[in-house]
Amino acid sequence: MDEMHLTGMGANETVEKQKNRGRGERSPHDSKAFREANRLALDLTYTFEAPGEGSIARKDVEALIDPILKAKGMLERGEGDIRDGGLVMTGWQEKPERIEPAHLRDIRSATEALSREIDAFVSIGIGGSYLGIESTVRALTHTHFNQLSREERGGAPEIYFLGQNMDPDYFRDTLDMLRHKRVGLNVISKSGTTTETAIAFRILQQLLEDSLGEEQAARRILVTTDRNRGALRELADRKGYRSFVVPDDIGGRFSVLSDVGLVGLAMANIDIEAFVAGFRNMQEVCASDDFWKNPSLVHAAVRHAAWNKGKKVEVVAANALALFYVARWMEQLFPESEGHKGHGMWVSPSLYSEKLHANGQMVQQGERNILETFLLLAEHDNRVEIPREETNLDGLNFLPDSGVDMNLVNRKVVEGPAYAHYLGGVPNMTLEVPRRNAYNLGQVYYMMEKSVAVSGYLFGHNPFVQPGVEAYKQAMFALIGKPGFEDKAAKMEENLSKMERIRIHA
Ligand code: PA5
Repeated sequence: MDEMHLTGMGANETVEKQKNRGRGERSPHDSKAFREANRLALDLTYTFEAPGEGSIARKDVEALIDPILKAKGMLERGEGDIRDGGLVMTGWQEKPERIEPAHLRDIRSATEALSREIDAFVSIGIGGSYLGIESTVRALTHTHFNQLSREERGGAPEIYFLGQNMDPDYFRDTLDMLRHKRVGLNVISKSGTTTETAIAFRILQQLLEDSLGEEQAARRILVTTDRNRGALRELADRKGYRSFVVPDDIGGRFSVLSDVGLVGLAMANIDIEAFVAGFRNMQEVCASDDFWKNPSLVHAAVRHAAWNKGKKVEVVAANALALFYVARWMEQLFPESEGHKGHGMWVSPSLYSEKLHANGQMVQQGERNILETFLLLAEHDNRVEIPREETNLDGLNFLPDSGVDMNLVNRKVVEGPAYAHYLGGVPNMTLEVPRRNAYNLGQVYYMMEKSVAVSGYLFGHNPFVQPGVEAYKQAMFALIGKPGFEDKAAKMEENLSKMERIRIHA
């Protein structure tokens, strides 16, 4: 016997959940008991009166209650600076209650049909047309999903992401993983003109057409884009691709609960009905005008009070990879919405313990410009016992002797830093997520969307536009010589010619 066996470890519960989902098992999200067991909790034990300069007091948050309730009312009535290109961009607010079960069934039947024909699925998109899908898929599936057997994946194909960067090595490496496989894809872009998405799609489309012919390739391609406009809409109509819609009144980073997110999640066999139910529940919770019972408002208030006190960085630290991906999603949602007119907090997604051995030093003793938000996963899918060891050279036998397993240690990975960082002058709050499921992710996403929308009102700017992102897109167009951008390219060259080019050769 020379290979390793997982003696005494039992079955991997994440894999069991995947298999159950593959057998059509759905979570009992309608039951009261399920909802009770899956309530999020926002803990402010270490938020107020941290020692040192720039602490937040409870009264600082209370002073924001009136403006926040006013902002909430305006948001709900569709008032204020909430338009993009003339369109009101708050459709995500009522989206949870607007999604029809029949629409979810349609998505499922389309993805199941495609799934039967393919081995690997590629989701192509960037920003809001990418991150919500990746975060949710990674949060709810096995860490090494693509390396599992199809049965262990619950019948889902392998899942890949392209178009979110322009790294040719990453791109080529991913193509290697697709070689000799039956590949399907979904290209997602609201505008239909985003360079990275368009390039990735063009390559995949051609490879598919070269391999299968145009007609067969068309059966493997899904398009998610604007209902009426844009290059992708035209292409989908011309080629007869099955298409899904990016709603007019919902921007990319708010769109995970729309076809943008739902199609990719259904491909990975995620329980999209439970996902919607989580959004719906949090929509109800966040409708409350009782400030202290509305976590999105409290979250917005703490962040704003912290910003007023000079906190410019929000470390969003998770004790589970599942929630680290959610932190990455927050890294997009908040800065792209808040980073206007010199406002906003830099969001730094961190996985603890890993980052405690790096940025942890900075959080404890560096510049006191940090707010910390912990995402604490209370119950993991699996339980990992720590074994006793005869020699006890590492002195850790006390752990198994007192019934402490890895799960309990991993909770302390948040509780320990929360206490220590508070004493070091870093106010922090903890969002406790009871367990890894689609319902809870839906709840977290809605809470954060509402929080950042309110934050926009507090800052006095529109959180639903992203002119800064557009600026980079335009500069890229000019640099890569896109027709129509000649003037911009000439201006850029002129500006560059006046600048001192500093380059140090080593
Ligand atoms: O939130 C946003 O609006 C952005 O992150 C967009 O989603 C991103 O820029 C991609 O845009 P598009 O869907 O038009 O390709």
